[in-house]
Amino acid sequence: LPLHLREDNLSEETKTLISSLPLSKDVIGNLYNYKGCWYYPNTLQGVLNFEKGFKPQETDIILASFPKSGTTWLKALTIALFERLKNDTSSDHVLQTDNPHGLVPFLEMSLYLKSSTPDLSKFSSPRVFSTHMPLHTLQLPLTDSPCKIVYVCRNVKDVLVSLWHFRCAHLKKEVDMESLFESLCSGVGSFGPIWENVLSYWRGSLEDPKKVLFMRYEEMKSEPNAQVKRLAEFLGCPFTEEEKEDGSVDKLVELCSLRNLSSMEINNSGKTFNSVPYSTFFRKGEVGDFKNHLTPEMENKIDMIIQEKYNGSGLKF
Ligand code: A3P
Repeated sequence: LPLHLREDNLSEETKTLISSLPLSKDVIGNLYNYKGCWYYPNTLQGVLNFEKGFKPQETDIILASFPKSGTTWLKALTIALFERLKNDTSSDHVLQTDNPHGLVPFLEMSLYLKSSTPDLSKFSSPRVFSTHMPLHTLQLPLTDSPCKIVYVCRNVKDVLVSLWHFRCAHLKKEVDMESLFESLCSGVGSFGPIWENVLSYWRGSLEDPKKVLFMRYEEMKSEPNAQVKRLAEFLGCPFTEEEKEDGSVDKLVELCSLRNLSSMEINNSGKTFNSVPYSTFFRKGEVGDFKNHLTPEMENKIDMIIQEKYNGSGLKF
């Protein structure tokens, strides 16, 4: 089992805490509800370590998402935006030598998984981290810090289909779509409910648009250049007029395209620290792939749930 799904990493304090938390199960294992979000036990340990130990720096950037919403893509784009400022053409691009998840590790599922005081000295400013936690949990150690948060949101039906494929690849067997669908609809699943995750960042972006940027996978697909410029401006590294004219935006978008990233050697042969092949983070990258996998009844049910949950928030889907 991947590390974050096991229960062997828990401190005595966490064991006591989880005995008082709402408990549920999905096909993979136990889930505990902490501050409104469901976590596998080891991930929860990572969340608690993060809450206890994370010391933000003013220039920190945190890339946030619900799983399978475009995290890998957002990481690649952010890395590429800062890399272009370095003007170092002598060596390979960092995206050629490491996967976006190696370059931008998860706080709760990687850096803080085992300790509340990990060694972060290899990160230079701006440090870029990532998370799947909802905003209210992420924000706790960030109080009064000016660091920036970018969230990527994706159509829930495509998230479900992407998650299903990812789980099948992970577990090397056909996962039951029906039970994954039920788990998504009930909200009881890793980092769920998905709508709470999305809405926490959506509201955060309305309250403080300079702190939280809300991006959408579908818009990144339909108008990548405009969305990449928006991201660059938010992160304080806008494209110059010269760059806009000399094709730099196109080049950056092409560098981070699914086709290009998935053809790189590192992403075909490499694995995450907990042995997930990098190749499993790249699949079709299409909008509306749910049509090939969900029945009309499933589509309707998700649409109705999401409509009800997003109602009054101003968030369109
Ligand atoms: P599909 O399974 O629908 O193809 P995450 O990065 O959050 O794990 O999300 C994975 C999804 O993003 C997968 O969707 C994957 O194919 C897609 N993806 C990965 N890299 C991408 C890129 N560079 N551009 C567009 N989509 C990408």
